[in-house]
Amino acid sequence: MFRKSVLVLIFTALVSGMAMAEGMMKHGGMKHGMMGGKGGSSEDSRISLNLPPMMKQHQLANMRAHLDAVRQIVSSIAEDDFNGASEIAAQQLGSNKRMMKMCNMIENEAFKGMGLAFHKSGDDLAKTLKTGNLKESLRALNNTMNYCVSCHATFRQ
Ligand code: HEC
Repeated sequence: MFRKSVLVLIFTALVSGMAMAEGMMKHGGMKHGMMGGKGGSSEDSRISLNLPPMMKQHQLANMRAHLDAVRQIVSSIAEDDFNGASEIAAQQLGSNKRMMKMCNMIENEAFKGMGLAFHKSGDDLAKTLKTGNLKESLRALNNTMNYCVSCHATFRQ
């Protein structure tokens, strides 16, 4: 199992390396190979949201705040401050007005749907943290973080 996946990895790396080199020769330079989104390991097949430049910065700042919220939740749990963790989850990840406004600015229904489900999971996380149950809280955090992972795998700016 392990051996096989290593072989597949090496093979994929070789083939994509070759494809990239070919692309560079054909199109005269790194730029096309890296930015064109076609061919080799530089391919990014995620759905683009086509965000305008100003929204890009705004969205990334919100995302960094999400990451920090997860960090604060973990740190509060470690200090047995479940109420504090719950508050952060409700305010920074839950489906409150501020969060909903952010998601609704992005004009892609599938993205909005995923964003809404994510914020609902933030509500559940806040509720679960309130109970002070460590295992259930970690499960709920895992559930919320699954939305981070799957949205990032599906969409790009
Ligand atoms: C509904 C979709 C969605 C959800 C849910 C989501 N993100 Fe993102 N996030 C994005 C998109 C789109 C980008 C831009 C990625 C790109 O263009 O490559 C992004 C980018 C980021 C970045 C990069 C910020 C930067 O400055 O470069 C971080 C960090 C991040 N997200 C953290 C998180 C965390 C943590 C969570 C969950 C708690 C989360 N995101 C949930 C869509 C989402």
